[in-house]
Amino acid sequence: MKLTVNGVEQTLDVDPAMPLLWALRDLLGLTGTKYGCGEALCGACTVHLDGEAVRACVTPVRRAEGKSVTTIEGLSADGKHPLQQAWLDLRVPQCGYCQAGQIMSAASLLRSKPRPTDEDIDQAMAGNLCRCGTYPRIRAAIKRAAGGDP
Ligand code: FES
Ligand code: FES
Repeated sequence: MKLTVNGVEQTLDVDPAMPLLWALRDLLGLTGTKYGCGEALCGACTVHLDGEAVRACVTPVRRAEGKSVTTIEGLSADGKHPLQQAWLDLRVPQCGYCQAGQIMSAASLLRSKPRPTDEDIDQAMAGNLCRCGTYPRIRAAIKRAAGGDP
């Protein structure tokens, strides 16, 4: 099947039921997207499908056929997306494992709501867990990327 990943058309010869996460990581070598729970409970595997945040661990690759997938590697050409810059400026990550998924969820939020309120952030990010408890810095970085405080 054909799908576009980070702007490049890919042809994959796979079981259409394979989780998109496996296709991205194991077949395309895009290991920035992480496996956490495998059950749509943690958000570590968040990618964009035609711009919408989805959990790649429970998304069969057939759902991506003919569509555009964006992973953390393709969020920006140079790693300078405003969220990535804010993450760096505020030193958000601790272990880092959850952070690609956090950024992809945040990017989806900012696309739909460029100036999110605290409530918007809480709602959009509720499904992204961080065992290191970086939530306050994540919230601050989203606000910074949106042009607000801090
Ligand atoms: S690995 Fe997909 S939501 Fe946890
Ligand atoms: S930074 Fe460690 S799980 Fe989030």
